[in-house]
Amino acid sequence: MNKNVELIPPYGGRLVDLRAPVEEVEELRAYAARLPSIRISARAECDLELLAVGAFSPLDRFMGRADFQRVMDEMRLQDGHLFPIPVTLPVEPNPNLRLGQEIALRGLNNDILAIMTIEEIYEWNRDEVAEKVFGTLDLRHPLVAEMHRWGDVNISGPMRVLQLPVHYDFKDLRLTPAEVRARLATYGHENVVAFQTRNPLHRVHEELTKRAVQEVDGVLLLHPVVGLTKPGDVDHFTRVRTYMALAERYYDPDRILLALLPLAMRMAGPREALWHAIIRRNYGANHIIVGRDHAGPGKDSTGKPIYGPYDAQEMVRQYSDEIGVKMIPFRMLVYLPDEGRYVELDKVPDNARTASISGTQVREDYLGNGKKLPDWFTRPEVAEILSDAYPPRHRQGFCVWFTGLSASGKSATAEILTVLLQEHGRQVTLLDGNIVRTHLSSGLGYDKHDRDANVRRMGFVASEIVRHGGVAVCAAVSPYRATRNDVRNMVGKDRYIEVFVDTPLEICEQRDAQGMYAKARRGEIKGFTGIDDPYEPPRHPEIHLDGANRTPEENARLIMDYLLERGFVRPLPAGAATERQPETQAVGA
Ligand code: ADX
Ligand code: MG
Repeated sequence: MNKNVELIPPYGGRLVDLRAPVEEVEELRAYAARLPSIRISARAECDLELLAVGAFSPLDRFMGRADFQRVMDEMRLQDGHLFPIPVTLPVEPNPNLRLGQEIALRGLNNDILAIMTIEEIYEWNRDEVAEKVFGTLDLRHPLVAEMHRWGDVNISGPMRVLQLPVHYDFKDLRLTPAEVRARLATYGHENVVAFQTRNPLHRVHEELTKRAVQEVDGVLLLHPVVGLTKPGDVDHFTRVRTYMALAERYYDPDRILLALLPLAMRMAGPREALWHAIIRRNYGANHIIVGRDHAGPGKDSTGKPIYGPYDAQEMVRQYSDEIGVKMIPFRMLVYLPDEGRYVELDKVPDNARTASISGTQVREDYLGNGKKLPDWFTRPEVAEILSDAYPPRHRQGFCVWFTGLSASGKSATAEILTVLLQEHGRQVTLLDGNIVRTHLSSGLGYDKHDRDANVRRMGFVASEIVRHGGVAVCAAVSPYRATRNDVRNMVGKDRYIEVFVDTPLEICEQRDAQGMYAKARRGEIKGFTGIDDPYEPPRHPEIHLDGANRTPEENARLIMDYLLERGFVRPLPAGAATERQPETQAVGA
């Protein structure tokens, strides 16, 4: 029964297309290579891509001053079309940027994406944008904060786009407005309902979307954002796998089209919702779902939500006729465990029990603790994708970094710790400073520069191990505070456990297993830590060990207690021998 249907035309009547004709691209590229160029930001790259393919129709360029001003004041372009969000290209003033000049716009990977003829260069005011567009000056609004890093002037002018930013991931799902329209037209339904999202899809979203499709007897355009979303969101790689799994298993294939939208969100709540509706119209949708807290930025610095939960619905309702996109509103949906169904919050029967799980709870209470997400909340396929991407603490990587004087007991403690970690089921790589020197760092000496280089190499390797879910146990004198801090940042603050093996110099010197102190005292080694080079003790190590009065085994077990406490390792199964053997081993270097 699939016959092609006529979809709603794009906003403003036709799709903008800024792409240069294929046969001209080669020549334009050679020409552009000789022009002055600027590298644009990830955000501008997203904006450029959507401008180029007509997702922002009728807007056909980064806004000039008149469009920008009227968009801020009245949500309209100069020509009167509604457009609630400024799309500008802020840059640092630069002598190459002159009126009439052509410049090449390069993407993040330096590819030349477009040639712009500069028609306008104008100053803009951050606070004015913050107040008018975002309705707040509060720096907790992610865009209000981000704008402070943008350039001081906006440039604008016509563009010829030579290539779109290249994406290698999920290529089959990256469709332009024209491509989405062409596919939608073959479904045989005039009504198209767009669903905007920047989150993994759970049962509640399935509910919203299926109800909407049924209500208008249409097709669902499942249109998740894969450009920039709210800092801290689940990464798009993971999210898109959830969308694919759901689209494949839980929707009628004749009623769903999944396509990815490389939009850079602004988290502008109501204005953004209206923008989303205009964008979706350009992709062929004549309906959009707007639920609770659409494109919400969260709370301000006083803990108050920046926008009301249904402000976005009010805004879209007000302009719905003008933009030709009907809104399908939903109040917050909650689950009724006793009846096994979802209802809108205002329709919960008196005294009925309700259940919901917030995004934070998903991450912290469930995934972080390795607890399975319940079936009423999310499909098992989605639960599995999320738990693979966000394993519990005891399967996440971490780094234990020993620092202390030579012969303080670092290596001996690290070796014992390695065994105890394996006993508890962790995969460990031991990076001992001296051993590392024979592989990673052969050729490096012992002056400050070389020692720093050695520590940084260990830090780099440790950070890779940690990123892949492993445990890196590192033991190096690492005498300099600044270098240790670099390593902490490389590994990630909450994955880095600094262990200070605090053993007085006299005791280390007495032990002197390798005779290094003696050589240093005789002047045969220069710049030896503790003798003629400083050791900067950590100010706030995660663990501070007494290396003089405790054995390496006692110390290793103290570290294990700490790791158990933080959930990085799991306790042994009950019944395992837990009695500690007295040990007599000497403290090594
Ligand atoms: S965002 O663009 O609005 O930030 P998000 O993925 O969080 O994306 O939400 C997608 C859409 O689903 C929005 O329209 C939002 O209002 C709606 N929505 C999400 N969760 C619920 C819920 N529990 N009840 C009602 N609407 C919801
Ligand atoms: Mg939301």
